Amino acid sequence: MSQHNNWSHYFAQLGENQAFEEATQQTQNAINSLFKNADKPYSGLAPALLKKQINDVDFSQSASLKEVINSTNELIAKNSLLVQHPHTIAHLHTPPLIASIVAEHFIAALNQSMDSWDQSPAATFVEQQMIDWLCKTYELGERSDGVFTSGGTQSNLMGLLLARDWFAFNQSLHDVQQDGLPEYAQKMRIICSDKSHFTVQKSASLMGLGERSVVLVKTNVQGQIDVQDLQLTVDALKAQGLLPFAVVAMAGTTDHGAIDDIQAVVDIARNAGCWSHVDGAYGAALQLSQQHKSRLKGIESADSVSVDFHKLFYQTISCGALLIKNKANFNTLLHHADYLNREGDELPNLVDKSIATTKRFDALKMFMTLKAVGEKQLGEFYDYLLSLTQEVASKIEENQHFDLCCTPLLSTVLFRLAPSLQGNLTDAEFNQLHQQLRLHMLTKGEAVIAETKVNGRLALKFTLLSPCLTIADFDSLLAKIEQSAITLINNK
Ligand SMILES: Cc1ncc(COP(=O)(O)O)c(C=O)c1O
Repeated sequence: MSQHNNWSHYFAQLGENQAFEEATQQTQNAINSLFKNADKPYSGLAPALLKKQINDVDFSQSASLKEVINSTNELIAKNSLLVQHPHTIAHLHTPPLIASIVAEHFIAALNQSMDSWDQSPAATFVEQQMIDWLCKTYELGERSDGVFTSGGTQSNLMGLLLARDWFAFNQSLHDVQQDGLPEYAQKMRIICSDKSHFTVQKSASLMGLGERSVVLVKTNVQGQIDVQDLQLTVDALKAQGLLPFAVVAMAGTTDHGAIDDIQAVVDIARNAGCWSHVDGAYGAALQLSQQHKSRLKGIESADSVSVDFHKLFYQTISCGALLIKNKANFNTLLHHADYLNREGDELPNLVDKSIATTKRFDALKMFMTLKAVGEKQLGEFYDYLLSLTQEVASKIEENQHFDLCCTPLLSTVLFRLAPSLQGNLTDAEFNQLHQQLRLHMLTKGEAVIAETKVNGRLALKFTLLSPCLTIADFDSLLAKIEQSAITLINNK
């Protein structure tokens, strides 16, 4: 039974720790060297070849960790998307702050679990401190509270879940936690704009209400919810005997960056006896910007708010939070387990307000970021980014080979190739060219840009997140796109 002494080098042990130190150093050296030498967003290895090389890894043969780190670097790291590259500009997918990456070192090595205090003594207090900071920042009031989540999807699900249970209790003292969906569940409706994120539908489905319970309200030319249509929709649903129970306001739609008139949405929701939820996954960060904070007016009155740190807060994935105005509403999630969070525990157990049990200590990343970067600096990043986005849009507008689809509202730019490039291509072929162009540039590793639809037609999209981007990055990117488009057209 002394065999266990030979296993210690597999673990990050207390005391002498040579294996751990060597492995972390080797990994860090590999990453440093990769970052130093990278010149493309992606290696350009053909997808089929990459898949084959990964599938060929033979797990029946083991290797030393040193060899595994080397081969992981060669096969995985070197064929990863480099989010730091200025031409990786497709999604709400950020290059992380150094403060966040080093926090991950602590998080991984310490491996605290946020469900109960005896698994995360300091960490529990850090998460609560960050939640208190958020509630104060969003001015949600004395009774507000929140919890860290895995991101916008989980935050939106939680917001709508709490809304459902709150509504059923108010409507008929029905306890969803105990008794499941009420008999009128088929009539329950969630209202949001037709530009809302798909996680609203996904949440409705997971909550047992079905995607058809989501009613879409039209948007104005700016992509904001039409508040008159919202009011008409609420009234019409009620007149049909249906039960609208939650209204979602968008603080930054994914493609257009549209921020709804949050105050108007919250007021309509409240007057209709509905819960108001703000999906701030993209734009809620603007609360730290002196220039743009006013665009979120009304967020302080919402019943729940999703904030996503792995987007505009520059945190490593995953990191988000759900904030709620009245902490009593977390009660519908509370379940006591004898082994974990006994009734009457003196010390706090964050599992009481979470849909996860074991949970990462992501709050440390925001804790270290707030101290090392600070809210003022973050706010200045956003001011710069939003003005750079306008500059990029002007550049596209002035370029004869591109058509700007709309004026940017946040930090995305939507554009198409100009009709002057269409040549002999049919409209359908020219539309498809946008997709081919994106895939061509992606698989060659030249640039990672997004493709979406604007008014039913394919469009290309830049999502600017990094405040380290400069206008010169876009001069070279637009030249690359133009060149690739011409090559593809000539090859047709
Ligand atoms: C507006 C909006 N809401 C929610 C989400 C989902 O967030 P996550 O990917 O963090 O789960 C996204 C993702 O891009 C988003 O843009």
